[in-house]
Amino acid sequence: MYRDMRRDHGSVVPVILEGDVPAWLVLGYRELHQVTGDSVLFSRDSDLWNQWDNIPDDWPLLPMIGRKQNSILYTVGERHRERAAMIGNALEAVDSFELRSTTERYADELLDAVCAKGETDIIADFAMLLPVRVLAFVFGFADEQGPGLVTALNDMINGREGAIAGQQHLGASMAQLLADRKASPASDVASRMLADSSGFTDEEIIQDLMVALAAGHQPTADWIGNSLRLMLTDERFAASLFGGRHSVAEAMNEVLWEDTPSQNIAGRWATRDIQLGSHRVRTGDMVLLGLQGANSDPQVRTDGSALTGGNNAHFSFSHGEHRCPFPAQEIAEVIARTGIEVVLDRLPDIDLAVPAESLARRPSPWLRGLSELPVRFTPIPALGGTSA
Ligand code: HEM
Repeated sequence: MYRDMRRDHGSVVPVILEGDVPAWLVLGYRELHQVTGDSVLFSRDSDLWNQWDNIPDDWPLLPMIGRKQNSILYTVGERHRERAAMIGNALEAVDSFELRSTTERYADELLDAVCAKGETDIIADFAMLLPVRVLAFVFGFADEQGPGLVTALNDMINGREGAIAGQQHLGASMAQLLADRKASPASDVASRMLADSSGFTDEEIIQDLMVALAAGHQPTADWIGNSLRLMLTDERFAASLFGGRHSVAEAMNEVLWEDTPSQNIAGRWATRDIQLGSHRVRTGDMVLLGLQGANSDPQVRTDGSALTGGNNAHFSFSHGEHRCPFPAQEIAEVIARTGIEVVLDRLPDIDLAVPAESLARRPSPWLRGLSELPVRFTPIPALGGTSA
């Protein structure tokens, strides 16, 4: 689809969103670099949008555009820099060995719950439960709060019944966490954010913990699912499933280039009339970041090969001031890689339980992930210990 759009419109495509709302989708690597690299010309401040008068309160894309949201995502300028530093420093201090062993522990618990059955859905029973659990732990939540947070976040993301209650549970849990950490600071993300000297309110810290949990969980879960799908369906990886761990990293990197969880991101808003690609973008127009489109731009993928090796110049974590913070990228990588390795170690003969062609994606213009990944394997006994 991106290839067709590029052929018909070039690297910047005029698109119509739900409800006939116009926007620009940037598919060109160079153009996306320009947009994400200049946060003054292409601002993250959604109040600048020239379409607000046409947007109904119940517009389904509203949650991803955000208006008057007091989170890091829509903060700009110096305050954004302080805020990104606050989050980045708090995440950077996460010990990667501890992160790995925590991820192993939760991954083992999750597999213990299904390993005797000989079959499971990797998405529902594993990928959608693991990242949130690990993130909750590093943020500072007690172990026993984990399952409640997992349910609340997944209810909120699914947008079904329970979504509002899920969001409220998360907000209340974050507020309680801050109160607890003010009383007794610990070595965790929440305590480090509270200790930051730039004077953030509790409300700002709660918003950013919510963003980090939601923005961190789903793409990491999709990274696990998309990478395992690749390894189970593509013979270049299947051959080495039993062997070298090298192929896990390769599959994960290939996914970020070819099948990235973060397909499109909304957005940036033009602060003045400007030429972008072959189009004239007007002040206040919304520009959508076509991350997957840019990753597959033939101008940078000249050999057409899917083998990306160690090259990580993809756009999957975006670029520029508002990109995914580097320590967050590393945390996502440790959680996803460890989770996949535990699956392959514990279930070495894991195989797809359905034909590869029947695997379906969740419908979403933003994130790309599987609805289900049914697998089968030789049943094994649980390791024991605690249950997930
Ligand atoms: C595979 C996993 C992940 C992917 C693909 C991903 C992708 C992204 C992308 C594309 C953005 C930038 C949006 C933009 O340019 O407007 C972003 C921002 C962000 N991500 Fe991630 N992310 C992942 C994991 C995480 C994790 C684990 C955390 C936290 C622990 C996290 C925290 C954040 C935060 C706080 C921002 C906002 C940065 C800002 O606006 O300054 N992300 N992420």
